[in-house]
Amino acid sequence: MKVTTKTILKLKGQRPIVALTAYDALGAALADRAGVDLILVGDSVGTTILGFETTVPVTLDMMVHHTAAAARAHPRALLVADLPFPEAHRGRDGLLEACRRLMQEAGAEAIKLEGGEVVADKVAFLVDAGIPVLGHIGLLPQRYHVLGGYRKFGKTAVEKKHLQADARALEQAGAFAIIGEMIESNLTAEITSILQVPFIGIGCGPHCDGQIIVCSDIIGHTLGKPPSFVKTYANVANTIEKAYAAYASDVRRGKYPS
Ligand code: KIV
Repeated sequence: MKVTTKTILKLKGQRPIVALTAYDALGAALADRAGVDLILVGDSVGTTILGFETTVPVTLDMMVHHTAAAARAHPRALLVADLPFPEAHRGRDGLLEACRRLMQEAGAEAIKLEGGEVVADKVAFLVDAGIPVLGHIGLLPQRYHVLGGYRKFGKTAVEKKHLQADARALEQAGAFAIIGEMIESNLTAEITSILQVPFIGIGCGPHCDGQIIVCSDIIGHTLGKPPSFVKTYANVANTIEKAYAAYASDVRRGKYPS
């Protein structure tokens, strides 16, 4: 049966939610075959596929392009598209138009946007307009240049208070679930228990309602080193490189075509 936001909500307290990124039709189809509950076309497409150093250069056009490709797989999983930098901070008309493009032109079924209390009024506005919103707190990669790098969140008492307030504000605004990125494990447990909606973690430890991960990291489809919390299940980059080298060698030696 098709996974909807209602399905995701109902999974809280039942079993861990499985979420994964995908950036094209093949990736989405494979994630779907594997039975994931939620596919996120993340703006991590910028760093995993498009060769950018951060997610900041990813544009709305790029997100529409990649989301539309993933949607062509017609996944059973809920298909969520990331709102890229800095669309969430536009006025209401601009924000609504960006979400319209991701849903009407590309086929997203929900939108993720980064930020807590600061964007809660925008989340409420979108939910009122009929747009399901997946929140995102903790490490916000779109704020890379303000942060000066990636790090763990929720270590200090002040940060803990802010993150709890962020989670509550997003839930109150109507987010159907919230992603926490790189938040201290103990605080993650607390936030998970105070929320009625699912809290899905990445780099947050085991005490949440589910896990989300960047697909390229768990399959080794990268030339870089994945973050320390990632478990790598395959080495796809190595397999591809070996296959390309074998093909090159066959062509040079006249073995292909035979
Ligand atoms: O863009 C992305 O892939 C994300 C996940 C890391 C949650 O935001």
